[in-house]
Amino acid sequence: MRGKLVIGNWKMNGSLEANRCLLQELLPPLAALKGVGVAVCPPFPYLAQVAGLLEGSGVALGAQNLNAAEKGAFTGEVAGGMLAELGCRYVLVGHSERRSLYGESDEAVAEKFEAALAAGLVPVLCVGETLAQRRDGSTEAVIAAQVRAVLQRVGSAAIAVAVVAYEPVWAIGTGETATPEQAQAVHRHIRALLGEADGVLAAATPILYGGSVKADNAAALFAQPDIDGGLIGGASLEAASFLAICQAAR
Ligand code: 13P
Repeated sequence: MRGKLVIGNWKMNGSLEANRCLLQELLPPLAALKGVGVAVCPPFPYLAQVAGLLEGSGVALGAQNLNAAEKGAFTGEVAGGMLAELGCRYVLVGHSERRSLYGESDEAVAEKFEAALAAGLVPVLCVGETLAQRRDGSTEAVIAAQVRAVLQRVGSAAIAVAVVAYEPVWAIGTGETATPEQAQAVHRHIRALLGEADGVLAAATPILYGGSVKADNAAALFAQPDIDGGLIGGASLEAASFLAICQAAR
């Protein structure tokens, strides 16, 4: 039985003061929310601060990226072991902004995924098609290539621990959400792809939806049979809306 999971991706937002205020508002009502896993992914410099604020709250910590190497001369980069040491449970890999703005290929994402597993982190593999790809009918093929690159590198170990997030690029930060039916169709496709590696594990893998999830559309998305929660950008920066989304996952 898959539980529900909601992850807030703060992207490059926040400050010491804003993080403290947001969590001060968020944590007490979240403590009363049972049956939903919740995590937040602040920018790297705030991981230690947020780890402290989350202590004892039941809300997990995640990071937004990692380098595939264990350590070394990679100026400006952060290793999985460092994230684990700071208390991260999750790390996003292959977010569409990383793929499009920083040139991360399917293979590079697979390497990061493997590094996350090696560091004892739960990789949250982000996949999704662009608007052009959806229009030309290649959504399923694009998602298949993104998922298979990881499966080829790490095998079914990939799905024993991982979380997958389907984030259609055209829905991220645009206010345009996939309909529950559109999202469900891709989620079913992703589960089938995972099932090619291991059907039992695939049935247990959380697959989150991301892309303009808001308080008023979350419940309909989360009610779909293969949607196990959300990866939330903009709405995770506002306590009331993130809380409402977490409640919708209950
Ligand atoms: P928005 O919720 O702001 O559309 O962002 C989605 C996202 O990219 C989460 O990783």
